[in-house]
Amino acid sequence: MATILIHPDMRSAIIATAERLLLTAKAKPGAVLGLATGGTMEPVYQELVEQAARKRLSFAGLTTFNLDEYVGLAGDHPQSYRSTMNRLLFDHVDLPREQTHLPRGDAEDPSVEARAYEAAIEAAGGIDLQLLGIGRNGHLGFNEPSSSLASSTRIKKLASSTLKANARFFGDDERMPTHAITMGIGTIMRARKLLMLAIGDSKADAVAAALEGPVTTSCPASILQFHPDVTVVLDQEAASCLKLRDFYEDIHPGGQEVYFAGTR
Ligand code: PGA
Repeated sequence: MATILIHPDMRSAIIATAERLLLTAKAKPGAVLGLATGGTMEPVYQELVEQAARKRLSFAGLTTFNLDEYVGLAGDHPQSYRSTMNRLLFDHVDLPREQTHLPRGDAEDPSVEARAYEAAIEAAGGIDLQLLGIGRNGHLGFNEPSSSLASSTRIKKLASSTLKANARFFGDDERMPTHAITMGIGTIMRARKLLMLAIGDSKADAVAAALEGPVTTSCPASILQFHPDVTVVLDQEAASCLKLRDFYEDIHPGGQEVYFAGTR
Protein backbone atom coordinates (compact mmCIF):
# COMPACT_ATOMS: atom_id res chain seq x y z
CA MET A 1 0.00 0.00 0.00
CA ALA A 2 1.14 3.50 -0.68
CA THR A 3 2.13 5.65 2.28
CA ILE A 4 -0.76 8.12 2.46
CA LEU A 5 -0.01 11.22 4.50
CA ILE A 6 -3.02 13.45 5.16
CA HIS A 7 -1.83 16.81 6.45
CA PRO A 8 -3.85 19.26 8.53
CA ASP A 9 -3.55 21.97 5.87
CA MET A 10 -2.06 22.89 2.54
CA ARG A 11 1.00 24.61 3.98
CA SER A 12 2.02 21.57 5.98
CA ALA A 13 1.57 19.30 2.92
CA ILE A 14 3.76 21.60 0.83
CA ILE A 15 6.51 21.80 3.44
CA ALA A 16 6.49 18.00 3.84
CA THR A 17 6.86 17.55 0.07
CA ALA A 18 9.74 20.04 -0.16
CA GLU A 19 11.42 18.35 2.81
CA ARG A 20 11.31 14.96 1.09
CA LEU A 21 13.02 16.41 -1.96
CA LEU A 22 15.64 18.04 0.27
CA LEU A 23 16.20 14.79 2.14
CA THR A 24 16.84 12.98 -1.14
CA ALA A 25 19.30 15.67 -2.25
CA LYS A 26 21.07 15.42 1.09
CA ALA A 27 21.14 11.62 1.28
CA LYS A 28 22.27 11.21 -2.34
CA PRO A 29 23.97 14.36 -3.69
CA GLY A 30 24.18 12.76 -7.15
CA ALA A 31 20.48 11.79 -7.22
CA VAL A 32 18.36 11.90 -10.35
CA LEU A 33 15.14 13.75 -9.56
CA GLY A 34 12.00 13.67 -11.66
CA LEU A 35 10.20 17.02 -11.43
CA ALA A 36 6.71 18.23 -12.24
CA THR A 37 5.03 21.53 -13.10
CA GLY A 38 1.51 22.81 -12.40
CA GLY A 39 0.04 25.23 -9.89
CA THR A 40 0.42 22.71 -7.05
CA MET A 41 4.20 22.64 -7.42
CA GLU A 42 4.80 26.39 -7.38
CA PRO A 43 4.83 26.76 -3.56
CA VAL A 44 6.84 23.52 -3.29
CA TYR A 45 9.68 25.00 -5.35
CA GLN A 46 9.47 28.25 -3.40
CA GLU A 47 9.85 26.29 -0.17
CA LEU A 48 12.66 24.20 -1.67
CA VAL A 49 14.63 27.29 -2.70
CA GLU A 50 14.17 28.91 0.72
CA GLN A 51 15.11 25.81 2.68
CA ALA A 52 18.12 25.00 0.48
CA ALA A 53 19.42 28.55 1.06
CA ARG A 54 18.74 28.40 4.79
CA LYS A 55 20.37 24.98 5.17
CA ARG A 56 23.16 25.82 2.69
CA LEU A 57 22.33 22.67 0.79
CA SER A 58 23.95 22.27 -2.61
CA PHE A 59 22.06 20.88 -5.60
CA ALA A 60 25.19 20.96 -7.75
CA GLY A 61 25.42 17.17 -8.13
CA LEU A 62 21.76 16.54 -8.97
CA THR A 63 20.34 15.70 -12.36
CA THR A 64 16.69 16.49 -13.08
CA PHE A 65 14.17 15.33 -15.65
CA ASN A 66 10.79 17.03 -15.89
CA LEU A 67 7.69 15.06 -16.75
CA ASP A 68 6.59 16.97 -19.81
CA GLU A 69 6.66 19.95 -22.15
CA TYR A 70 4.20 21.52 -24.58
CA VAL A 71 4.81 20.67 -28.24
CA GLY A 72 5.45 23.85 -30.21
CA LEU A 73 6.80 26.03 -27.39
CA ALA A 74 10.50 26.90 -27.44
CA GLY A 75 12.31 26.87 -24.11
CA ASP A 76 12.30 30.68 -23.96
CA HIS A 77 8.52 30.94 -24.41
CA PRO A 78 7.22 32.26 -21.07
CA GLN A 79 4.57 29.51 -20.82
CA SER A 80 6.93 26.66 -21.68
CA TYR A 81 7.65 24.36 -18.79
CA ARG A 82 11.38 25.02 -19.36
CA SER A 83 10.82 28.74 -18.64
CA THR A 84 8.54 27.92 -15.73
CA MET A 85 11.13 25.63 -14.14
CA ASN A 86 13.90 28.20 -14.67
CA ARG A 87 11.77 30.89 -13.06
CA LEU A 88 10.56 28.79 -10.12
CA LEU A 89 13.62 26.71 -9.30
CA PHE A 90 16.66 26.52 -11.56
CA ASP A 91 17.43 30.27 -11.50
CA HIS A 92 17.66 30.16 -7.69
CA VAL A 93 19.81 27.11 -6.92
CA ASP A 94 23.36 26.04 -7.74
CA LEU A 95 22.24 23.27 -10.11
CA PRO A 96 24.13 23.61 -13.43
CA ARG A 97 21.58 24.21 -16.19
CA GLU A 98 23.00 21.40 -18.34
CA GLN A 99 22.03 18.91 -15.61
CA THR A 100 18.36 19.94 -15.90
CA HIS A 101 16.32 18.24 -18.59
CA LEU A 102 12.94 18.85 -20.17
CA PRO A 103 11.81 17.59 -23.56
CA ARG A 104 12.42 20.28 -26.22
CA GLY A 105 8.96 21.43 -27.26
CA ASP A 106 10.30 23.03 -30.43
CA ALA A 107 12.24 19.96 -31.59
CA GLU A 108 12.04 19.49 -35.35
CA ASP A 109 10.65 15.99 -34.88
CA PRO A 110 8.89 15.71 -31.50
CA SER A 111 8.70 11.89 -31.77
CA VAL A 112 12.47 11.63 -32.15
CA GLU A 113 12.84 14.05 -29.24
CA ALA A 114 10.54 11.87 -27.10
CA ARG A 115 12.59 8.74 -27.79
CA ALA A 116 15.85 10.61 -27.09
CA TYR A 117 14.38 11.85 -23.79
CA GLU A 118 13.50 8.33 -22.67
CA ALA A 119 17.03 7.20 -23.61
CA ALA A 120 18.57 10.10 -21.66
CA ILE A 121 16.69 9.08 -18.51
CA GLU A 122 17.96 5.55 -18.91
CA ALA A 123 21.52 6.75 -19.58
CA ALA A 124 21.40 8.79 -16.36
CA GLY A 125 20.71 5.55 -14.47
CA GLY A 126 16.96 6.06 -14.09
CA ILE A 127 15.05 8.34 -11.73
CA ASP A 128 15.58 8.01 -7.98
CA LEU A 129 12.55 10.07 -6.93
CA GLN A 130 9.76 11.25 -9.21
CA LEU A 131 7.58 14.12 -8.04
CA LEU A 132 4.01 13.96 -9.36
CA GLY A 133 0.86 16.05 -9.34
CA ILE A 134 -2.46 14.61 -10.44
CA GLY A 135 -4.97 16.02 -12.91
CA ARG A 136 -8.66 16.32 -12.07
CA ASN A 137 -9.17 13.58 -14.65
CA GLY A 138 -6.55 11.36 -13.01
CA HIS A 139 -3.75 12.11 -15.44
CA LEU A 140 -0.06 11.83 -14.51
CA GLY A 141 2.20 14.11 -16.51
CA PHE A 142 0.13 14.50 -19.69
CA ASN A 143 -0.91 10.85 -19.73
CA GLU A 144 -4.60 11.48 -20.16
CA PRO A 145 -7.25 8.80 -19.52
CA SER A 146 -6.90 5.97 -22.07
CA SER A 147 -3.07 6.21 -21.96
CA SER A 148 -1.30 2.88 -22.06
CA LEU A 149 -0.16 1.94 -18.58
CA ALA A 150 3.10 0.63 -20.10
CA SER A 151 3.86 3.72 -22.22
CA SER A 152 7.24 5.43 -22.63
CA THR A 153 7.94 9.09 -23.43
CA ARG A 154 5.88 10.13 -26.47
CA ILE A 155 3.52 12.75 -27.87
CA LYS A 156 0.05 12.97 -26.36
CA LYS A 157 -2.97 15.06 -27.25
CA LEU A 158 -4.27 17.02 -24.27
CA ALA A 159 -7.78 16.22 -23.05
CA SER A 160 -10.31 19.03 -23.27
CA SER A 161 -10.55 19.14 -19.45
CA THR A 162 -6.76 19.66 -19.27
CA LEU A 163 -6.89 22.39 -21.90
CA LYS A 164 -9.57 24.08 -19.82
CA ALA A 165 -7.70 23.67 -16.52
CA ASN A 166 -4.41 24.99 -17.93
CA ALA A 167 -5.90 27.85 -19.98
CA ARG A 168 -5.41 30.04 -16.89
CA PHE A 169 -1.66 30.06 -17.53
CA PHE A 170 -2.11 31.50 -21.04
CA GLY A 171 -3.19 35.01 -22.05
CA ASP A 172 -6.43 35.63 -24.01
CA ASP A 173 -4.44 36.32 -27.17
CA GLU A 174 -2.14 33.31 -26.76
CA ARG A 175 -2.77 30.03 -28.51
CA MET A 176 -2.50 27.17 -26.06
CA PRO A 177 -0.67 24.10 -27.37
CA THR A 178 -2.85 21.04 -27.92
CA HIS A 179 -0.11 18.40 -27.62
CA ALA A 180 2.72 17.62 -25.25
CA ILE A 181 5.76 15.41 -25.05
CA THR A 182 5.30 13.50 -21.82
CA MET A 183 7.07 10.74 -19.93
CA GLY A 184 4.88 7.67 -20.26
CA ILE A 185 3.21 5.82 -17.44
CA GLY A 186 5.84 3.11 -17.87
CA THR A 187 8.59 5.75 -17.58
CA ILE A 188 7.06 7.03 -14.34
CA MET A 189 6.67 3.51 -12.99
CA ARG A 190 10.36 2.82 -13.57
CA ALA A 191 11.33 5.56 -11.08
CA ARG A 192 12.57 3.98 -7.86
CA LYS A 193 10.37 6.16 -5.65
CA LEU A 194 7.25 8.18 -6.40
CA LEU A 195 6.03 11.20 -4.46
CA MET A 196 2.59 12.52 -5.36
CA LEU A 197 1.18 15.78 -3.99
CA ALA A 198 -2.47 16.79 -4.31
CA ILE A 199 -4.07 19.87 -2.78
CA GLY A 200 -7.68 21.04 -2.69
CA ASP A 201 -11.13 19.60 -3.22
CA SER A 202 -10.89 19.80 -7.01
CA LYS A 203 -8.52 16.80 -6.76
CA ALA A 204 -10.53 14.78 -4.23
CA ASP A 205 -12.35 12.55 -6.75
CA ALA A 206 -9.19 11.85 -8.76
CA VAL A 207 -7.23 11.01 -5.58
CA ALA A 208 -9.91 8.57 -4.41
CA ALA A 209 -10.13 6.93 -7.84
CA ALA A 210 -6.33 6.64 -8.03
CA LEU A 211 -5.79 5.18 -4.56
CA GLU A 212 -8.95 3.19 -3.96
CA GLY A 213 -10.52 2.56 -7.35
CA PRO A 214 -9.77 -0.15 -9.88
CA VAL A 215 -6.47 0.04 -11.75
CA THR A 216 -7.60 1.28 -15.12
CA THR A 217 -6.53 3.45 -18.04
CA SER A 218 -9.63 5.57 -17.25
CA CYS A 219 -7.64 6.88 -14.28
CA PRO A 220 -3.94 6.66 -15.24
CA ALA A 221 -2.83 7.55 -11.68
CA SER A 222 -4.46 4.32 -10.45
CA ILE A 223 -1.31 2.54 -11.70
CA LEU A 224 0.41 3.88 -8.57
CA GLN A 225 -1.22 0.95 -6.76
CA PHE A 226 1.30 -1.28 -8.53
CA HIS A 227 4.40 0.73 -7.56
CA PRO A 228 6.36 -0.66 -4.59
CA ASP A 229 7.43 2.72 -3.13
CA VAL A 230 4.85 5.50 -3.36
CA THR A 231 4.21 8.32 -0.92
CA VAL A 232 1.08 10.43 -1.40
CA VAL A 233 0.91 13.78 0.39
CA LEU A 234 -2.54 15.35 0.70
CA ASP A 235 -4.28 18.19 2.46
CA GLN A 236 -7.68 17.64 4.11
CA GLU A 237 -9.66 18.68 1.03
CA ALA A 238 -7.80 16.45 -1.41
CA ALA A 239 -8.33 13.53 1.01
CA SER A 240 -12.03 14.20 1.48
CA CYS A 241 -13.37 11.43 -0.80
CA LEU A 242 -11.14 8.62 0.49
CA LYS A 243 -13.25 5.81 1.93
CA LEU A 244 -10.44 4.58 4.19
CA ARG A 245 -9.40 8.04 5.30
CA ASP A 246 -9.77 7.24 9.03
CA PHE A 247 -7.49 4.26 8.62
CA TYR A 248 -4.78 6.28 6.84
CA GLU A 249 -5.01 8.97 9.53
CA ASP A 250 -4.75 6.31 12.18
CA ILE A 251 -1.51 5.01 10.67
CA HIS A 252 -0.02 8.47 10.05
CA PRO A 253 -1.62 10.93 12.50
CA GLY A 254 -1.47 14.49 11.14
CA GLY A 255 0.35 13.20 8.07
CA GLN A 256 3.42 12.27 10.11
CA GLU A 257 5.35 9.15 9.32
CA VAL A 258 5.43 6.85 12.31
CA TYR A 259 7.99 4.13 11.98
CA PHE A 260 7.31 0.69 13.34
CA ALA A 261 10.31 -0.06 15.50
CA GLY A 262 9.83 -3.84 15.57
CA THR A 263 9.04 -6.09 18.48
CA ARG A 264 12.39 -6.40 20.17
P1 PGA B 1 -2.08 21.49 -11.14
O1 PGA B 1 -1.76 20.35 -12.20
O2 PGA B 1 -1.05 21.40 -10.08
O3 PGA B 1 -1.98 22.79 -11.93
O4 PGA B 1 -3.45 21.22 -10.63
C1 PGA B 1 -1.46 19.05 -11.79
C2 PGA B 1 -1.50 18.11 -12.95
O5 PGA B 1 -2.26 18.36 -13.91
O6 PGA B 1 -0.81 17.09 -12.92
